[in-house]
Amino acid sequence: MTGTPRNGVELPDLTLGTWDIRTPAQAETAVGAAWASGYRGIDSAACYENEDVIRRAIDSCGIPRDGLTVTSKVWNDAHDEAAARAAFDASERRLGRIDIYLIHWPGPVPRFLKVWRALEKLYEDGRAAGIGVSNFMVPQLEILLEHARIRPMLNQVECHLWFVDRPLLDFCRREGIAVQAFSPLGAGSGVLDDPVLREWADRLGVSPAQTALAYLRQLGIYPLPKSSNPDRIAENAGFRNVRIPDDGMAALAGRNRLVRTNKDPFGWFGQGYE
Ligand code: A2P
Repeated sequence: MTGTPRNGVELPDLTLGTWDIRTPAQAETAVGAAWASGYRGIDSAACYENEDVIRRAIDSCGIPRDGLTVTSKVWNDAHDEAAARAAFDASERRLGRIDIYLIHWPGPVPRFLKVWRALEKLYEDGRAAGIGVSNFMVPQLEILLEHARIRPMLNQVECHLWFVDRPLLDFCRREGIAVQAFSPLGAGSGVLDDPVLREWADRLGVSPAQTALAYLRQLGIYPLPKSSNPDRIAENAGFRNVRIPDDGMAALAGRNRLVRTNKDPFGWFGQGYE
């Protein structure tokens, strides 16, 4: 199962989050387990400081590079056109190749428009097969779409049982922007202990994590679960076999509390930040 390509790159239905992977051994274990379990995407970023170990893990696991879609992101310290291009060059040196490149956080206008100019050129030069954004809310997307020559294929945002931003999802669907969920399991915030999630997991005979991921996928979202444990990496891939009925989807939708576990992009909107 793969997504509809927008700018010529396939978005895998399952991508491994890697934000806390640091050492070569952790990377090799996680990347190897993910590949064996059918993950076809690996998500990294300059600020995770793991691009070099991720690349070495891909090589040492003998993964055919063309079978994998690797994402990286430009960090907030490179928010102008030249700096963003230099940041891409540095990330590309560490990763060997970047398939999808994202603006990690919007920051203020017009800075993100300058960064977008850099990403458009990288795309046109064939340096990245897909470009997009992360942590963009509707007003920021509206400004971006008004000025973009090349539209973002993807918006990677926090999304899980307790935080589903419906207006953002609707906007992205209307505009043909794929939504990828980071922290799809709630990043240790207690989502996996939600009683309604557990009830439906029991009824379906699967785990809460598989139910949480299937719920997002059935909402049309691409989940990006993070784990460094090979058993949980394999378990999470099992969401593909889960089908939640309509009454289950409705019950799970009732658990949305609109509570983030991560930073609010508007908190950084128009303000100074690291
Ligand atoms: P670990 O890396 O030890 O597996 P999210 O993807 O929402 O950010 O959540 C990541 C957190 O959830 C990590 O702490 C990860 O721990 C844990 N986790 C990942 N998969 C599972 C799972 N199947 N069951 C329980 N916890 C999980």
